[in-house]
Amino acid sequence: MSTTDSRPRILVTRAIFPEVAQRLSEHFDVESNTADDDWSRGELLHRLQDKTGALTFGLERIDADLLARCPHLKICANMTVGYNNFDLDAMRVAGVLGTNAPDVLTETTADFGFALLMATARRVTESEHFLRAGKWTRWQYEMFSGAEVHGSRLGIIGMGRIGQAIARRAAFGFGMQVVYHNRSRLDATLEADCRASYLSKEELLKTADHVMLVVPYSKESHHTIAAAELALMKSTATLINIARGGIVDDGALAAALREKRIAAAGLDVFEGEPRVHPDLLTVPNVVLTPHIASATPGTRRAMAMLAVDNLIGYLIDGRAVTPLNADGLVARAAA
Ligand code: DGY
Repeated sequence: MSTTDSRPRILVTRAIFPEVAQRLSEHFDVESNTADDDWSRGELLHRLQDKTGALTFGLERIDADLLARCPHLKICANMTVGYNNFDLDAMRVAGVLGTNAPDVLTETTADFGFALLMATARRVTESEHFLRAGKWTRWQYEMFSGAEVHGSRLGIIGMGRIGQAIARRAAFGFGMQVVYHNRSRLDATLEADCRASYLSKEELLKTADHVMLVVPYSKESHHTIAAAELALMKSTATLINIARGGIVDDGALAAALREKRIAAAGLDVFEGEPRVHPDLLTVPNVVLTPHIASATPGTRRAMAMLAVDNLIGYLIDGRAVTPLNADGLVARAAA
């Protein structure tokens, strides 16, 4: 048997930076989806059959069925911070580790949250479309007037690392009054550090000028914002979703936007993406971007490298860097 044959086998499910693939190949036998094809579930299962690890992209459903059919698999390393593609209970039962990529994308994603807030409140894309369509013939004093950002009240739902980074930008950069809602309240030091005060979700929705969603997706957070929550918001408010599709009921949001029950929305994530609810495509007061909040080369590279660190850490050195379900995990024996 050659040296190469005895190394752990890794599947990279999508195209990735060449230097990331190169680093993986220094340690593992690697099969990469260099063509960036959309593999069917069957194709993914087939390719994972003989693999010990996978570098995943937050898109592949890792559940009991897949784990039962991939007996060699010991680790799935997401290059994303979100991990709602993992059934962590099933992974724990199967003895398979899941890892994600936190921290390295925090500031970049917070920047983008702010970009989307600014573009939405100040109607950047709507007015650009107007200009490109040749409709700008004269300046008018009320043309595309938007919502004030500086000095307004920002409500953040989900106050993890990214929520906190957004709060600091808002409070210190834009003099905003920051309120937040989170499963658990931050300690007083962290609240002071972010200059943020805790509110119930209802109070936040009723009083915020802008609402930013940064909450992780789970069964519990599904449709955190649906028709009832939209009805609580100010008619002048904007809603920004950089969290996950499914946190917002996109159909209810499109109706609220069309009927001007809220002023505008900025969405980077969608229910069932890359499909976008058709009603969102026909309302003018929404800014739509294709899940790019962490998309700078440096950040995406750092996310992928952290996934590689996790694969090397777990399969070679015995310890992953950012494990999700390591506590009490009885690792799968070599098959
Ligand atoms: C994440 O890391 O979860 C992002 O949504 C992907 O860019």
